[in-house]
Amino acid sequence: MPLRFLTAGESHGPVELVIVEGLPAGLPLDADDINPDLARRQGLNATGKPYPGASPRMKLERDEARVLSGVMAGMTIGAPVAIQVDNNDHDKWKGKAVAPMTIPRPGHADLTGALKYGHRDLRMSLERASARETTARVAAGATARKLLGAFGVRVGSYVTQIGTVRADLSGLPLDARLTAAGESEVQCPDPESSAAMVVHIQEAMRGRDTLGGVFEVVALGVPPGLGSHVHWDRRLTGRLAQAMLSIHAMKGVEIGDAFENAGRPGTQVQDAIYKDPAGTLTRNTNRSGGLEGGITTGEPIVLRVAMKPIATTLTPIDSVDLVSGEPRPIEYERSDFCPVPRAGVIGEAMACLVLADALIEKLGGDSLAEMLQRFEALRRARLSDFDLDNTPTVFWP
Ligand SMILES: Cc1cc2nc3c(=O)[nH]c(=O)nc-3n(C[C@H](O)[C@H](O)[C@H](O)COP(=O)(O)O)c2cc1C
Repeated sequence: MPLRFLTAGESHGPVELVIVEGLPAGLPLDADDINPDLARRQGLNATGKPYPGASPRMKLERDEARVLSGVMAGMTIGAPVAIQVDNNDHDKWKGKAVAPMTIPRPGHADLTGALKYGHRDLRMSLERASARETTARVAAGATARKLLGAFGVRVGSYVTQIGTVRADLSGLPLDARLTAAGESEVQCPDPESSAAMVVHIQEAMRGRDTLGGVFEVVALGVPPGLGSHVHWDRRLTGRLAQAMLSIHAMKGVEIGDAFENAGRPGTQVQDAIYKDPAGTLTRNTNRSGGLEGGITTGEPIVLRVAMKPIATTLTPIDSVDLVSGEPRPIEYERSDFCPVPRAGVIGEAMACLVLADALIEKLGGDSLAEMLQRFEALRRARLSDFDLDNTPTVFWP
């Protein structure tokens, strides 16, 4: 794992921090590479306003990255890159005695975290369990995105489902989906579905409920040969899936058309291999989602991620007061109603980190210049390199 990162911070503490280790030297990087992704994570859509159903917290703060180390004269130096994002909301909590929270909200780490760590005040679990931590991940992901960009890799996302409203995007190319998503209030490339999703979210809010949904993360221009088939923890398929499921409230992940493929005969599932007149190997389909044997095929990577509805609902959910032992409904704290439109950027960040890690693994990662040289050499390698004359015969002892 040449590219690693560690985050620190609590939801209402002073800062979110991340240290990214393993970026090559010579990558131009500053806060302007990070802030646009932070704004997208906060749910600012094409209109510059928060998405319908976003938490009021989005109106309170604008996240801004401060790059504290690992960058000199606008370039990475091969040292750890530390990034800080202030929690502006902290000012409201600073110096105040906060009443202990004793009624665990089902669907959060309130109870599980308290049981595990022996907390009596549930805030000691929920502060770190909060998805505010994804601010730090998105900052780290933006550095990985910058590296991938130098190799022509583009990572984006769009929403395909909110609650019961599903968009049919068949026939719409992936890059067109990304462009159209940027014009939608809810990141959905299909305008009709997008409008229906907005109405659905408003209905859920009026009904004092929350909604989940599905988004897709796609990576275009990914070179073949990233990842490996030789060990479980080197298979890129598993690394990407783990990265998606590590995000708060993500409960399912699919690579390519995995669940539809499961119901089809094999001849209709594999992506047949062809050779074009220039000798390049090509595929006409990408049902595998860009991965075979845990290794990238060179086709776009397509990840589909299911997010559960937010567990903090205006309609009380049954729970128990841990102090009195009496049944008590949960107490509402201000919250998102449907963060699916802004969750995609977190999926993108995690995909960028995994892909950049695999790219550095493949090319070596001391400096960007060295990586680019090796990348060019690999790109020049053609089918003619498969020279059977110099290949030893396999024979099992
Ligand atoms: C972008 C984003 C925003 C979220 N906002 C909220 C929120 O405002 N209120 C809430 O109760 N949960 C919110 N969540 C979900 C919780 O973080 C999540 O339900 C919790 O971590 C438990 O899920 P888990 O079991 O997958 O960890 C959000 C998640 C994401 C990804």
